[in-house]
Amino acid sequence: EKRLKIGLLGLGVVGSGVVKVIAQNSAKILSATGIKLEVAKVLVRDGEDKKAIADTYGFTLVQDITAITEDPEIDIVVEVMGKIEPAKSFILSALKHGKHVVSANKDLIAQYGNELVATAQQNECYFYYEASVAGGIPILRTLSNSFLADEITEVFGIVNGTTNYMLTQMVENHLAYETALKQAQTLGFAESDPTNDVDGIDAAYKAIILTRFAFEQDLKMENLTIKGIRGIELADLELAQQLGYEVKLIAQTKNSNNGVYADVSPKLVAKNHPLASIRNELNGVFVKSTGIGQSMFYGPGAGSIPTATSVVNDLAVIAQNTAENVKVRPFARYKSEIKLQKASD
Ligand code: HSE
Repeated sequence: EKRLKIGLLGLGVVGSGVVKVIAQNSAKILSATGIKLEVAKVLVRDGEDKKAIADTYGFTLVQDITAITEDPEIDIVVEVMGKIEPAKSFILSALKHGKHVVSANKDLIAQYGNELVATAQQNECYFYYEASVAGGIPILRTLSNSFLADEITEVFGIVNGTTNYMLTQMVENHLAYETALKQAQTLGFAESDPTNDVDGIDAAYKAIILTRFAFEQDLKMENLTIKGIRGIELADLELAQQLGYEVKLIAQTKNSNNGVYADVSPKLVAKNHPLASIRNELNGVFVKSTGIGQSMFYGPGAGSIPTATSVVNDLAVIAQNTAENVKVRPFARYKSEIKLQKASD
């Protein structure tokens, strides 16, 4: 049987999920594609004790990236370390060594997607990152494959699990902001430094990636207006409730003849809107398009197994493409010229 060997970068919340999800689904993926996925090596930090999990799942722990990028037996690199560096250098090196890459790193893909995608194309490698937006919801592949005969005009929704969890818990269990944040951290939804979650930065990264898939436009962070939930108090949320609204952190991107506009901000969402019913770490992405009209995609936006499942599905697509010899093309196509909507529009 043919195998694809994986080098995994990172064994944290998502990385350990990836190991489990591959173990649970490799027989199914093998029967669907004829290819067995195998985690061969895992890059961990110096001093990180992961021997027990390595023994259970039968992979080798390494501390030097070249043990993966320069190993001709490794076919695919999975990056779930997060942050920009060293993840960016590691991915570029993997691609230059002809390895396909799967990543869940929204910070990196939002800000350096152009360079990574170009390098993947030059080296004829697949570069997939479905898990970077809305965790377990297969939204990116849906936007790129299921709206070909349609025209998207707007994409908006809840794309940060941590803040949605906090807003829900504050209202439902009368928690203070800080207590709700601590719980989101304990549950593994928040970034290691939750600033990006609460200040709307994480949602802005996701809005940039969604904009590429919806409108083929490559926005920069400075093109977005970004406001998070810091400073929101329980009393604000309770007042909104009395008036018939939920407060939700909404990321939106829209396209018109005048160009693209994207922002992130807390918004009042009427209780009868489908986004109002999305609780805790769940995410929801609402799409408006001329053909379908309105559609909504709903599911877990953070958390180990849902996010890891999305990563492993990207691996299964690579297995399928390899088996069928599918030509490598970018996951999203986007133009380098951007057309922004003027402030007055
Ligand atoms: N911190 C992120 C969130 C993780 O809460 O949505 C998933 O990207």
